Amino acid sequence: MTYNHSHEAFSQAARWLQSSQRIVAFTGAGISAESGIPTFRDSDGFWREFPPEQFAHWRGLIRTAFTDPVRLAAFVHAVIEPLGTAKPNAGHQALRVLEQHRKLIVVTQNIDGLHQAAGNECVQEIHGSLTEIALLSGKRQRTLAAAQVSQIAARLGHIKRRPLALVRMLFAIRPMLGAGLRGVWRPNVILFGEGLAEPAWSNAVTAAENCDCLLTIGTSGMVYPAAMLPAKAAASGAKVIHIDPTEGGTGLWLCGKAGDVLPPLIRAAFDDDMKGAN
Ligand code: OAD
Repeated sequence: MTYNHSHEAFSQAARWLQSSQRIVAFTGAGISAESGIPTFRDSDGFWREFPPEQFAHWRGLIRTAFTDPVRLAAFVHAVIEPLGTAKPNAGHQALRVLEQHRKLIVVTQNIDGLHQAAGNECVQEIHGSLTEIALLSGKRQRTLAAAQVSQIAARLGHIKRRPLALVRMLFAIRPMLGAGLRGVWRPNVILFGEGLAEPAWSNAVTAAENCDCLLTIGTSGMVYPAAMLPAKAAASGAKVIHIDPTEGGTGLWLCGKAGDVLPPLIRAAFDDDMKGAN
């Protein structure tokens, strides 16, 4: 375990959590890194190999489907393959424990469903969910099981050469993206240039403006409007604590991996609650 924060900062954060009734956990890709899902902007992140100018919006994806379907299949494979097997890690589980002590709203930019898998009840997925399939009208249709995700990934993993690559890819991803009598279906994810998921985003803004303490966990804070939430919370008088291996600015930073920092932090804040309950 490696921390790079002072004992004083850690104790301050624990006291802030202890004295808060309404807490928001605003999470990004970093909290899922220890579950084996790469982040976007770190050295091994998705956007290093697959630049967002090409892969983060529908126009680029559709163009790549025709110009380089093998590469598009590699991108979709890279995104969905870890989701078939990923399990919540110690960071996700610590947030489940936090919810047992305080009113907690998890606002996540992640599309992996790991907060729900850890057992958190109130999760706002502001960038949507990769396994939730919806019609173009927005009507939710069904949720893909992990085994289906793995099967799609396995089929995509075999697409290595150009002939028939587009046809094979469309066949592989048919449970996620396709058209039929009921219309066009697609994963319920938000790409660049689209509005955030509703009512998740409105709920997230209300939660940030009404919380006593907001934790940012594993996010570079580079993507708006999501990145406005910590400032909104601070402007409404909330305390803001940042948890990330890389310190990114002013405020209270606990530098370390979410799975290393969150469990002892929650214990430090609430162990007395447990003693009181015994
Ligand atoms: P980024 O990849 O931009 O940032 C990940 C953050 O997690 C960085 O600050 C890392 O230092 C940190 N990190 C890495 N490992 C960690 C660990 N074990 N514990 C805690 N933190 C760790 O990911 P996001 O900020 O989530 O949006 O990216 C925001 C949005 O950009 C995504 O939702 C996605 C992307 O484009 C869309 O595609 C719409």
